[in-house]
Amino acid sequence: MLLSSVALIGLFLGVQALPRQAPLPSTPSKAACHRSDALKRLTFDQDGKFKLAVFSDLHYGERDGLDWVQWGEDQDVNSTRVMDNVLNSESPDFVVFNGDLVTGENLFLSNGTSYLPRALSSTISHSTPFASIYGNHDRSTNISHSALYAAEKSLCSARGLSYTLRNPSSADDEDGQFNYVLEVFSHRKKEQQAPELLLWMFDSRSGIFDDASMYWDWVDPKAAEWINSTSSSILRRYPSLGKTLPPSLIFVHIPPSVALPLQASEVSNNASYPGINDDDPLDPQGQHHPELQRPDQVWWEAVKGTIAREGGEGLIASVSGHDHGNDWCARSSSVETTICFARHSGYGGYGSRPRGSRIFEISQLGAKGRSARSSGRSLEVESWIRLEDGAVANLTGIY
Ligand SMILES: *[C@@H]1O[C@H](CO)[C@@H](O)[C@H](O)[C@H]1NC(C)=O
Ligand SMILES: *[C@@H]1O[C@H](CO)[C@@H](O)[C@H](O)[C@H]1NC(C)=O
Ligand SMILES: *[C@@H]1O[C@H](CO)[C@@H](O)[C@H](O)[C@H]1NC(C)=O
Ligand SMILES: *[C@@H]1O[C@H](CO)[C@@H](O)[C@H](O)[C@H]1NC(C)=O
Ligand SMILES: *[C@@H]1O[C@H](CO)[C@@H](O)[C@H](O)[C@H]1NC(C)=O
Ligand SMILES: *[C@@H]1O[C@H](CO)[C@@H](O)[C@H](O)[C@H]1NC(C)=O
Repeated sequence: MLLSSVALIGLFLGVQALPRQAPLPSTPSKAACHRSDALKRLTFDQDGKFKLAVFSDLHYGERDGLDWVQWGEDQDVNSTRVMDNVLNSESPDFVVFNGDLVTGENLFLSNGTSYLPRALSSTISHSTPFASIYGNHDRSTNISHSALYAAEKSLCSARGLSYTLRNPSSADDEDGQFNYVLEVFSHRKKEQQAPELLLWMFDSRSGIFDDASMYWDWVDPKAAEWINSTSSSILRRYPSLGKTLPPSLIFVHIPPSVALPLQASEVSNNASYPGINDDDPLDPQGQHHPELQRPDQVWWEAVKGTIAREGGEGLIASVSGHDHGNDWCARSSSVETTICFARHSGYGGYGSRPRGSRIFEISQLGAKGRSARSSGRSLEVESWIRLEDGAVANLTGIY
């Protein structure tokens, strides 16, 4: 099927099948909050390091249907403890909430968004800057990506810490608009100098509804145009980059469809990729639509062509959650990209492995006596799993 017709079908379905949106909560008046909205530039530290922790699949607010249960409350207390422990052990420079912050199908319209401050509270109390992407459970009859975003932005304590953005030009449906890019700069560099690292965030939409055909579980094809135009504008803004974007990490809740053949061909047969692989086969983007084949392909072609580039040098890794039973990072020789799973961080949602967080430590080569490698790369990246009990597992060089 032609790519453009996939996009058109997506648009058509968008008009036909989009479920009713949960109304947005009212935003408290700015006057009531004395914290500044201003966000600091994200930078590497003076030793040339930038450390990022991923909190994935927290699933706050679970109940037995809509009935209150003690275990629901206990899970959330536990999830907050997991994040406190990870933040205390790692002191990351940045946190990414990697989707499924809440379990939307268990939430009430009247107060569903009140679970969001609970999910963010540990990171906020550590004064750690953060950004959110949203997952399939963050959208249901009584909750939406838009409502969670509005709740995050209306939270006084998140001002100056929340880097989450919304881009109406990047998707047709309002719950798919959380596609954005954050720039990370060198510690010492001045205002006009180019970023050293890009963090791309993508919205894989979907939702929990009775009708499976409402599951558009892939990034809107329109995000491909947005990637290309945004890349061009970054290159124009920083002429010193020439034609090459800085290396990127991308975050998307539901794994791209290329993760499935990668798992089948290499991960499941190859013990040299560290990590757990309990969810085999994994559940990739586009899996739940009855008619479309690989509808995430338009988006992924733009990721490959514009962000990863030939040889994949531009993409450090694509990081997903969604499959709580997987936490591997593996590289596909055929697709020339590294696909990583985060670690299930929340006590909510399925899965009973010890909870934790995938950590990325990105180091500038050339900083503090580290020599630039012959590859001509400017960064080196290690990743590991920090477990809630303080243990570190499966440290690997991924770039
Ligand atoms: C909360 O965490 C404790 C310690 O890990 C565990 O024993 C307990 O089962 C957890 N409670 C729930 C409801 O997950
Ligand atoms: C949505 O929330 C309302 C109350 O706020 C509740 O009556 C209703 O059952 C909820 N719907 C679903 C599908 O959970
Ligand atoms: C939301 O409302 C339900 C139903 O009234 C209640 O059981 C629950 O505790 C409320 N949740 C929060 C976070 O206020
Ligand atoms: C196993 O994975 C390693 C990378 O960790 C790769 O170099 C090797 O080619 C893979 N082997 C097979 C049989 O896929
Ligand atoms: C580390 O990887 C091994 C397999 O390579 C796996 O058995 C182990 O559970 C992993 N540890 C964590 C914390 O994911
Ligand atoms: C974006 O650019 C890449 C690389 O040039 C190209 O493969 C892709 O088709 C473009 N996508 C769109 C929607 O323009």
